[in-house]
Amino acid sequence: MGDTVALILAAGKGTRMKSEIPKVLHKAAGKAMIEHVITACEEAGVKRIYAVVGHKSEDIINTVGDNIGYIIQDQQLGTGHALIISSEYLPKDKSSVIVLVGDAPLIDGKTIEDMIKIHEDNDLSATVLTSRLSDPTGYGRIVKDADGNLLKIVEHKDATEEEKKIDEVNSGMYCFKSEDLLSSLKELDNKNSQGEYYLTDIIEIMNRKGLKTGSSITSANIIKAVNSKVELSQIEKIMRKQINEKLMESGVTIIDPKNTYIHKDVQIGADTIIYPGCIIEGSTKIGKGCMLINNSRIVDCEIGDFVTIQSSTLLKSTVGDHTTVGPYAYIRPESTIGKHVKIGDFVEVKKSVIGDNTKISHLTYVGDGEVGSNVNLGCGVVFVNYDGKNKHKTIVEDDVFVGCNVNLVAPVTVKSGAYIAAGSTITDEVPEKNLAIARCRQTNKPNYFK
Ligand code: UD1
Ligand code: CA
Repeated sequence: MGDTVALILAAGKGTRMKSEIPKVLHKAAGKAMIEHVITACEEAGVKRIYAVVGHKSEDIINTVGDNIGYIIQDQQLGTGHALIISSEYLPKDKSSVIVLVGDAPLIDGKTIEDMIKIHEDNDLSATVLTSRLSDPTGYGRIVKDADGNLLKIVEHKDATEEEKKIDEVNSGMYCFKSEDLLSSLKELDNKNSQGEYYLTDIIEIMNRKGLKTGSSITSANIIKAVNSKVELSQIEKIMRKQINEKLMESGVTIIDPKNTYIHKDVQIGADTIIYPGCIIEGSTKIGKGCMLINNSRIVDCEIGDFVTIQSSTLLKSTVGDHTTVGPYAYIRPESTIGKHVKIGDFVEVKKSVIGDNTKISHLTYVGDGEVGSNVNLGCGVVFVNYDGKNKHKTIVEDDVFVGCNVNLVAPVTVKSGAYIAAGSTITDEVPEKNLAIARCRQTNKPNYFK
């Protein structure tokens, strides 16, 4: 399918979104709507993809990047006009041209492939992707003759009362034979209720020219387009259901799928149990047999097998097998946590490495640290990493025991096997296997109170 071209129409403003952000950049399941459409094209094996952009085109180009091409439509004179200005990018032969819309993100590769198959098997000049809707209001209607041959598409606003009763609607997505599309676009005009160039008129034009047209029908959920924030939330809900069901079918246990928010590209192993309120985002990978307990948020992380995470936030970090995190821990970006580690309640870890079997059980801040294995950090340990200007590193080697309420003033190193007494403020290196005490001695004043 090397020569197939896809055009994604995305030049419109999306007034009803009531937003400064261009419509196709609004996100569903963590990705901009247009990115979902691009993924569907890629799944269908389409290599040449263009987006027709106009309103805030810079924002779209900056977000989506240069994996696709862009065609600028300065004035949005209708979907037909979007294709007219794209003509020079289309092949002048019989190759297929797929037209999609940037605000219908539920489209998938399989549906596009099915449409292309009908198109090519029947040697059609145009194939319209359609669906039957219980409420077709607002959509273009598919007008067919008694034998089921496609006659034309009529826009809701231009439809007769009789035509408005038709429940098969135009998705706004098509497959065209490029050379026939190009010759037919020349005959498009804007004589309709909106004064726009309707791409939908191309069907009637092609039929008049004796070119074969037809349709490919799909389910209502696939073609759903977003025009408002309410519809965006409906799309989000459908995607959430699809993503969660796919994960459950692969062996993940989701206690309450309606209240579990997982992005599309997230990977999760079998027998991992996810409790309500968890939000798992971006490129996160989670192993098997894990427990993600209520309201944890995990973004772009790599989590091993048999890990327990409870009510915690983890960002752009790695966690090894059999480690437990939380409740109420905060793992900030660029942290690498080993295997069999315990990160307990109210522990914050920032840009640090934590070795295997280490315990940081409660109320501790580890910033810019390198902590070895079998280390114990007592309650209330603080890595004093910031002097007001610069960040400094703290190194705690293997088998170290740090008592409660210790400040480690960076840059500083605690050598392996050392022991630090509770309440110490450590400013100098602690040699191997030494005990460091850095606090005032207690004095007791006898008979002070009478
Ligand atoms: C269009 C179809 C309608 C179909 C519906 C499905 C036409 C005339 N009508 O109507 O039959 O049922 O989609 O959702 O095509 N766009 C541009 N440039 C333009 C105009 C629009 O790029 O000049 C883009 C928009 O950004 C949008 C898409 O094309 O992504 C559809 O345009 P929109 O105005 O929403 O068309 P509808 O009225 O919904
Ligand atoms: Ca629309």
